[in-house]
Amino acid sequence: MDAYGRVIDYLRISVTDRCNERCLYCMPEGYKGWARKADHLTAQEIVQVVAATCEMGFRKFRLTGGEPLLRPDIVEIARSIWELTGVQALGISTNGTRLAACARELKQAGVRSVNISLDALTPSVYRKITGGDISAVLQGIDAARDAGFETVKLNCVLMRGVNETEILPLLRFAGEHGMPLRFIELMPLTRQDVLREDSFFPIGDAKQLIDEEYGELVPEPSYRPGHGPARYYRVEATGGRVGFIGALTTPDFCGTCNKLRLTADGKLRPCLGRHGEIDLMPALRRDGDLLESVREAILNKPENHEFSGCYEPGRPMTAIGG
Ligand code: 5AD
Ligand code: SF4
Repeated sequence: MDAYGRVIDYLRISVTDRCNERCLYCMPEGYKGWARKADHLTAQEIVQVVAATCEMGFRKFRLTGGEPLLRPDIVEIARSIWELTGVQALGISTNGTRLAACARELKQAGVRSVNISLDALTPSVYRKITGGDISAVLQGIDAARDAGFETVKLNCVLMRGVNETEILPLLRFAGEHGMPLRFIELMPLTRQDVLREDSFFPIGDAKQLIDEEYGELVPEPSYRPGHGPARYYRVEATGGRVGFIGALTTPDFCGTCNKLRLTADGKLRPCLGRHGEIDLMPALRRDGDLLESVREAILNKPENHEFSGCYEPGRPMTAIGG
């Protein structure tokens, strides 16, 4: 329990700050990541941190990045985490471009749920946002569905003037394939030119667009695949499910927050929308008390995020863990 009565039992683990794409909302142009490999946690260190959080009552874990599948040892990391006592849920968040090659292996290693970024269906819009090629992602989605994960979800970050015309096509696509789709409000964590006031598209507007096309969405408060902050609805007309993550417009968004983040360079970040971090490297590489550091991070979890004014040039989303 943290200082505000929230049960903190979910750790998001960034295994690398590198990525093969460069999404407008995540990766600043020209960002190369930390040059030194030694700055990244090793597989063994990641597992050590997970084991310590398990001891503190954490039960749910998600591997992320950057792009987690760029790490050659990602399957081994997943397997070692899944084998720890206490781990009840293990997911991965990926851009999907490398998923076709390893979906089956990840499933066998213990990964239960996969979240795939898909901000557009139109190839040119997809390329404009990510710099990449959508066909690899579509193959990755197929492979994930074939591999038999408990859930395969799609994520779309909303940007006015960029992808609001993709909302309905994405909803149709997700519905046809029986995949939950989540719309996410743009969080100010990257280049400031992308994050001007007028590129923000609130989830309320997305919901209204869907209501107008398909009839009013039916709230499903008990549907909670994964353990994130999305609030879900059923699209009666298609039977599909759509979730909304409105970090900036949902009142009391932080009241149900259950997580800490582990950055790829070994820091626990209590809140995405606040600067504070607790460095675990002294405990991991020298002689410190890992459990005490985890406890400190939980106690330092703030009541609310403070996204306004939160952008730090040297610490974009891809470094913190999307
Ligand atoms: N705002 C909102 N969501 C973001 N993501 C990455 N950067 C941002 C941002 N600035 C999300 C993407 C990706 C997930 C890992 O994090 O949706 O799917
Ligand atoms: Fe890469 Fe994901 Fe960031 Fe896009 S959002 S640049 S795919 S880490």
